[in-house]
Amino acid sequence: EEGGEMQPRSPVVTVMGHVDHGKTSILDAIRKTDVAVGEAGGITQHIGAYHVRSSAGDVTFVDTPGHAAFTEMRSRGAQITDLVILVVAADDGVMDQTREAINHAQAAGVPILVAVNKIDKPNADIDRVKRELSDLNLAPEDWGGQTVYCETSAKKNIGIDNLMESIQLVAEMLELKADPTRKAKGRVVEAQLDKGRGAVATVLVQEGTLNRGDHFVVGQFSGKVRAMLDDKGRPIKKAGPSIPVEVQGLSGVPSAGDEFLVVTDEKMAKSVSSARALK
Ligand code: GTP
Ligand code: NA
Ligand code: MG
Repeated sequence: EEGGEMQPRSPVVTVMGHVDHGKTSILDAIRKTDVAVGEAGGITQHIGAYHVRSSAGDVTFVDTPGHAAFTEMRSRGAQITDLVILVVAADDGVMDQTREAINHAQAAGVPILVAVNKIDKPNADIDRVKRELSDLNLAPEDWGGQTVYCETSAKKNIGIDNLMESIQLVAEMLELKADPTRKAKGRVVEAQLDKGRGAVATVLVQEGTLNRGDHFVVGQFSGKVRAMLDDKGRPIKKAGPSIPVEVQGLSGVPSAGDEFLVVTDEKMAKSVSSARALK
């Protein structure tokens, strides 16, 4: 489109790793909230997306479950992301979903930053994690490799500030930019049917700015942005690049990973979505 202007945008960071290695706990420590409390001992059931403002800079985080059943979500998570935080519990080491997450990130061409978590545990063995990951081409910088490692305890709130600073350093090298003046384009992170509000989708805006009232196509559905909420549940009127928003006004429930595309008008939205539905 004419008159575009590329501007810096926040990094989109996906947190991946084996089940129970502490992905959600690290995010909670970053957000200083306690969402994981409700799911202690359970598994994360959905992908959440959160935009975090910190003194080190702004970051959008996408959480993924480590359970084996969620391979597809991790694959899609890798595709919407600029950087993967690979969480490995220091007492457990590299496991099946650790290897799988590495494969997804590498297939998507996304850099990996390692968080060796649970360093507070008496049987933590950080060197073992470094050895195991070195065998998978993720040798740490202090061993002559190129991968940034952070040592964390989400439980004791150790190393979290350093993790945020490291994310910013890696992200700065990527020189991430987007054009906020274009019509919005993004991806569905999660979607569901809500009692009262109808079909709602969490959309990560990747290009342009999404406005209330915009007509859109998403997967084989269409709609008009009736209302938007930010990741804290507050109503907002617009969302720029790297911002996750919950959108109301969809004609149906799309799948996670579906493209979300703003179009000129309702007629266009309906013709594109019905053509897609026929495929
Ligand atoms: P899934 O989403 O189910 O794959 O798990 P997850 O990787 O998000 O792990 P979660 O944050 O749910 O943490 C799993 C368990 O490990 C919880 O009981 C946490 O309290 C505990 N845990 C997380 N981080 C730490 C840590 O740094 N130290 C210790 N000791 N326990 C931790
Ligand atoms: Na868990
Ligand atoms: Mg989790």
